[in-house]
Amino acid sequence: MSQEFLPFTRPDVGEEEIAEVVACLRSGWIATGPRVQLLEEKFRAYLGAPHALTLSSATAGLHLALKAVGVGPGDEVITTPMTFVATLNTIVHTGATPVLVDIDPKTFNMDMAQLEKAVTPRTKAIMPVHFAGLPVDCDALYAFARAKGLRVIEDAAHAIGAQYKGKRVGSFGDIQVFSFHPCKNMTTAEGGCLVTRDADVAKKVTQLRLHGLDRDAWNRYSKEGSQTLDVVEAGYKCNMSDLQASLGIHQIDKLDAMNEARQTHVARYNSLLSCEQGLTLPAAPDYTCLNAWHIYTPLLNLDEVNLTRDAFVAKMKDYNIGVGVHYTPVHLYSYYRTNYGWGEGSFPIAEDVGARIMSLPLWASMTPDAQDRVVEAITSILKENSR
Ligand SMILES: Cc1ncc(COP(=O)(O)O)c(C=O)c1O
Repeated sequence: MSQEFLPFTRPDVGEEEIAEVVACLRSGWIATGPRVQLLEEKFRAYLGAPHALTLSSATAGLHLALKAVGVGPGDEVITTPMTFVATLNTIVHTGATPVLVDIDPKTFNMDMAQLEKAVTPRTKAIMPVHFAGLPVDCDALYAFARAKGLRVIEDAAHAIGAQYKGKRVGSFGDIQVFSFHPCKNMTTAEGGCLVTRDADVAKKVTQLRLHGLDRDAWNRYSKEGSQTLDVVEAGYKCNMSDLQASLGIHQIDKLDAMNEARQTHVARYNSLLSCEQGLTLPAAPDYTCLNAWHIYTPLLNLDEVNLTRDAFVAKMKDYNIGVGVHYTPVHLYSYYRTNYGWGEGSFPIAEDVGARIMSLPLWASMTPDAQDRVVEAITSILKENSR
C-alpha cells in the first residue's frame, strides 16, 4: 500500500499565483486595493454581471446579502438541510428564522415542489444551494419566487463555472454568493464574491463590507483617497485583501480549464465505479446544465454492504485515502435540534442521503494513478463487506 496520504481535495495553485503574491508583498499594498479591483473586473467580465463584490468569505456574502435585502427579526428564509452550516447560521445571525424544505433524492438540491408548503406571510427570501456544483432548477425557483414576491439569494459556494440551460450561474437571477475557500473550484485561500444585478443591493453590500462607510473607502490611505467619510450604518469588516486577490486573478483565468479537468475525472470515476453494486453514483437532473463538480458524491447502498458510511470512510483512511462527508443535514446538529425542534424524521430524504453520502478525492490536477488508488480501495472494501 502506498504510504502517501491522498486528501479528499487539494488547492491547485501554480507559479503565476505564487509570483503574484510575492509581487503584491513587494508592492507595499497588501490589504484591499488594485488587485481586488482587478479581480472584481474579471468576475464581472466572466459572469457578464454588473456588480461583483469580493468578500472575506462566502459566509460573509450570505450574511450581507440577507441584510441588504432587509431580512431581519420576524422574517423567515427558506433553505435546504443538505448544506454547510454557514447557510443556516447566516440566517440566524440576522435574527430571522430558517425554514427547511427537504431535498430531491436525485440531485440532492432543494425540492422545488415543496416550496409552496414552506411559505408563510413571514417568508422574505429563498436561499437555495447549488449542491456539489449542480445548479438548482432555476426556472422553477424564479417562477415561484416572482409569483410570491420573494428575494432569492443563491448559495453558489460550490458553483463557480456551473451553467443552467447554457447560462453561467451568476449571470442571471437575483443574488449569487461564491466561495473561494481552498477546497473550492478556485481559491483565494479564504474569500468569497457576491454577484448581483441590483444596484441597491450592490451599494448596500459595499457599505456593509467595510464598517458602514458611505462609499467604497479602501483607498483612503492613498494620495487620491479622502479621509472625510461618513458612517451610514454599523457595518462589518469583511473585505478581501490584495494578497488573497493575487491568487484569484490567476485562478479565475484557469477556472474553465480546471473545471473541465474535474469533468474528465468525474467521467472516469463514473466509468470505473459503474459496476459496483454497493454504490449509487451521482445522477443528472432532467434539465440541461453543466455541473461544476465541486465534489463527487456517490451514496453507499446500506442494504448491499454490512458497513455504515462512517465505517466505510474509516476503512478508506486505512488505505491512506481521505473521504469527505458533505453533509450531515444541518437540522441534526444539536444547536438546530434544540432551538428549532428538528430531529430524526424531520427531513427524511436529506437524512437518508446524509447517512450514505461521501465525497471521493477530487481536484483539477488529480492524476489517473491517484484515481485508480481510490477505485481499488473502494472495490476491495465493498468486496470484503458485501451482504
Ligand atoms: C454550501 C456552502 N455554503 C457556504 C459556505 C461558506 O463558504 P466560506 O467558507 O467561503 O465562508 C460553504 C463552504 O464550504 C458551503 O459549502
